[in-house]
Amino acid sequence: MSDYRIRLKTPEQLVQCRAAGQKAAEVLMAMCENAHAGMSTKALDDLALQTMHGLGCESADFGYYGYPAQTCISVNDAVIHGVPSDSIVLKNGDVLSIDITISYNGFIGDNARTVIVGGDEYAPPEVLALVRNTEAGLEAGIAKALAGNRVGDISHAVELVANAHHYGIVKEYVGHGCGVSMHEAPEIPNYGPAHRGPVLQEGMVLCIEPMFTLGSRRIKVLPDGWTVVTADHSPAAHAEKMIAITANGPEVLTDWH
Ligand code: MF3
Ligand code: CO
Ligand code: CO
Repeated sequence: MSDYRIRLKTPEQLVQCRAAGQKAAEVLMAMCENAHAGMSTKALDDLALQTMHGLGCESADFGYYGYPAQTCISVNDAVIHGVPSDSIVLKNGDVLSIDITISYNGFIGDNARTVIVGGDEYAPPEVLALVRNTEAGLEAGIAKALAGNRVGDISHAVELVANAHHYGIVKEYVGHGCGVSMHEAPEIPNYGPAHRGPVLQEGMVLCIEPMFTLGSRRIKVLPDGWTVVTADHSPAAHAEKMIAITANGPEVLTDWH
């Protein structure tokens, strides 16, 4: 699929990755702010398309291996790659995971977030904790994204957070290098031993993206060929940021402002 060699970005390319990352973050922010009960995930996808056009960027998901929509919107037991649909209508308390991948000037921005439709108060405490701890797993991974560390240091840090709360970790899908293509080397699993794997170097651009479940980690793919759901239909959360390894530590390229 992707080139197995890690493509280090030049400072000029990093400027472009930063611009693409910022666009991806703005689209994600607009979708999270506008999602509400009664809205279909297709309507939310339409909003993404409008927002992307307003920002002068386009979906990198659409057409990717035939992917049929602008964004991935995964509700409740859907973990990732949820295909937006007229027949999926949001309601208060839904666990809404939105993953945005855009292309801007030939560079890719990729980020995801899970929110509770209607506000956190609509979620049972254990579901809200799953969402918060998935973000904590992401942040723990980012904290290890330092030149001289290894990919396994990120993976292990994410795993420790999931284990501390007895969550399932989805293992079939992983984080990845990013920037010029959506999926570049290296793969970044959300589990595994520390001090193993490729050495992190300045100029790497990485997407770290834990997927945690409240029940079993087992997943299946729906007949639409894309939507990944938990086999036991327990809720799942997903969080993703695109970061660059710099001399000053990890730089988040998809920060909200
Ligand atoms: N945004 C996803 C990722 O984090 C990939 C999108 S899959 C697609 O890697 F099919 F929608 F493109
Ligand atoms: Co993504
Ligand atoms: Co990604």
